[in-house]
Amino acid sequence: MGTQKERIVLITGGSSGIGFAMAKQMVAQQAATEATVIVCGRSQEKLDGVKRKVPQLVTIQCDLTRQEDRNALCDKIAREFNGLNMLINNAGIVQRYDLAKPGDIEDRIVAEWQTNFMAPVLLCNRLMPILARNKGAIVNVTSGLVHIPLSIQPNYCATKAALHSMTQSMRVALSKQGVKVVEIFYPAVDTPFQEGRAPVTAITADEAAAIALKELSKGKDEIHVKMAAFLFLLSRLMPKRALYLFNKLFTEKGAEKRNSG
Ligand SMILES: NC(=O)c1ccc[n+]([C@@H]2O[C@H](COP(=O)([O-])OP(=O)(O)OC[C@H]3O[C@@H](n4cnc5c(N)ncnc54)[C@H](OP(=O)(O)O)[C@@H]3O)[C@@H](O)[C@H]2O)c1
Repeated sequence: MGTQKERIVLITGGSSGIGFAMAKQMVAQQAATEATVIVCGRSQEKLDGVKRKVPQLVTIQCDLTRQEDRNALCDKIAREFNGLNMLINNAGIVQRYDLAKPGDIEDRIVAEWQTNFMAPVLLCNRLMPILARNKGAIVNVTSGLVHIPLSIQPNYCATKAALHSMTQSMRVALSKQGVKVVEIFYPAVDTPFQEGRAPVTAITADEAAAIALKELSKGKDEIHVKMAAFLFLLSRLMPKRALYLFNKLFTEKGAEKRNSG
């Protein structure tokens, strides 16, 4: 994965929440080195905000669902940061809707697939030559909901489950190129993603990022952060019961307004 000294990291969606917490902590940890942390996101305003907080960050405006933006991002990386040795596919969105109610959900479903699945897969594909040359790493961010889906955000769970499967295939296929492929399964984390309705179990973005970074440094392939490990275990021990129990918990007691990530 390269030494700390030569590390160049791209964190998609590093202008908010967990991605920003990770970027901030990486800069702090690597302050004494020449490491570069690049973050991207759609909103220039958010990028300007994180740059004010952490001036060492390199910010690049990019809507990952747009092919021309992705190409421009990858071209810039190739030109200016061709020592890139870690790609963290962190950008993600969530939509909630009721599967039992007909409605116009096509745009929202497409946006989730483009952001949560297509963008990371296409970005990996474009940046593969650079990552292979640098014997780097790809880190895909998924969720504990890969193991037990939450029916109030069904398509989100499906996109993350698909990314989980793709991550496993990447791990096998890219090992021959010397590229390590890691997956981080987060639990509910209190970030703007939760729109102010985080469940009581939610942890902070700083805590989530700190745990993920610590486990990443140990060279693990799969990192289950806190409650995500519990969901994994539950899904293995009693798959059918876990599905109904977990969903009941999140659709009763007013919890239907929450999402768990
Ligand atoms: N928070 C949770 O409870 C939780 C739980 C499990 C997993 N996760 C996963 O963790 C990751 C980070 O989530 P978070 O909670 O930190 O969310 P967040 O605070 O909402 O941040 C999401 C980031 O993604 C960027 N983004 C969204 N769409 C984009 C696009 N099309 N192109 C480029 N950037 C885009 C956003 O910036 P712009 O809006 O400016 O584009 C922002 O920087 C996501 O993959 C999420 O699924 C979160």
